[in-house]
Amino acid sequence: MRIGVLTGGGDCPGLNAAIRAIVRRGIDEHGHELVGFRDGWRGPLESDCAALTLESIRGILPRGGTILGTSRTNPFKDEEGPRRVLGNLDRLGIDGLIAIGGEDTLGAANRLHLDHGAPVIGVPKTIDNDLGATDLTFGFDTAVQVATDAIDRLHTTAESHNRILVVEVMGRHAGWIALHSGMAGGADVILVPERPFDVEEVCRLLQRRHARGRFFSIVVVAEGASPQTGTLETLAADQDEFGHQRLGGIGQLLGPEIERRTGFETRVTVLGHVQRGGTPTAFDRVLATRLGVAAVDAADQGRWGTMPALKGSRVELARLGDAVSELRTVPPEDYAVGETFFG
Ligand code: F6P
Repeated sequence: MRIGVLTGGGDCPGLNAAIRAIVRRGIDEHGHELVGFRDGWRGPLESDCAALTLESIRGILPRGGTILGTSRTNPFKDEEGPRRVLGNLDRLGIDGLIAIGGEDTLGAANRLHLDHGAPVIGVPKTIDNDLGATDLTFGFDTAVQVATDAIDRLHTTAESHNRILVVEVMGRHAGWIALHSGMAGGADVILVPERPFDVEEVCRLLQRRHARGRFFSIVVVAEGASPQTGTLETLAADQDEFGHQRLGGIGQLLGPEIERRTGFETRVTVLGHVQRGGTPTAFDRVLATRLGVAAVDAADQGRWGTMPALKGSRVELARLGDAVSELRTVPPEDYAVGETFFG
């Protein structure tokens, strides 16, 4: 078989480990030929591809990013897009395509499969950890570790200066990174998209902490967190090709507001893309490797429209549609555990 591979959406640590696993297993175990498409869906749309050989994947296991490049290109943006992708795959002699991505990349893969019969297998990845049908996505563990290291560092400077440190982390629709890094780093308030916040309540918690003799605090806020309607004005954001708002800015809004309301000196740190860059943790390398192996095995068996997923400690095949039909957000009971340590 000739199997194509692409990585789409925001990059994350572990992508190269997954590509390496697909190529090693595909060639050594199954005797397939592997072809890498450049920059997500742009590759199959424009027939931009090159052979993936044992040589081309040498040494990439610990490297962040993706050797294939990535983009937020949406193959359904133009009416002609899906037909162009299928035509190009056909011309290139591609028997199956493995799409490694998050909700947008896998959503497009699922539509291509269901509406156009494309032979696709998905592999779930995203630092946001918000895909359905899997218990975890690779990239998340590394992002949480990076954010936790940053919070640890911010703790010592916050304490020295008796300041409030507001730390904005990624997380568009789900507050997994905020909750886990906040809990690991001992944050005093954690704000997530799933639970619109009341700035007055945030200030009350910080004041209570001060009243108990702790004159510094850490507030972790997910970029997608928003204030309860009518409590704090937010700024309008522009959109990407999949119609998602480009977020970022809630920390800059919240910090000055906390300072104004409490009188406590406040600083804001936005971690941004540093959470997505660099070397993956051992956990993410292993998860990405297991999923890559399972994906090429699934392609070998013609299990199109599926996606290997972590269920408990096992990797199982799930329906691609189940991964993208509903986002996996932070349940109230998980948030409640973090809340125990607020204020
Ligand atoms: O890939 C997910 C993510 O990192 C989100 O947490 C964040 O909102 C978004 O990507 C940022 O996208 P971009 O890299 O296009 O700015």
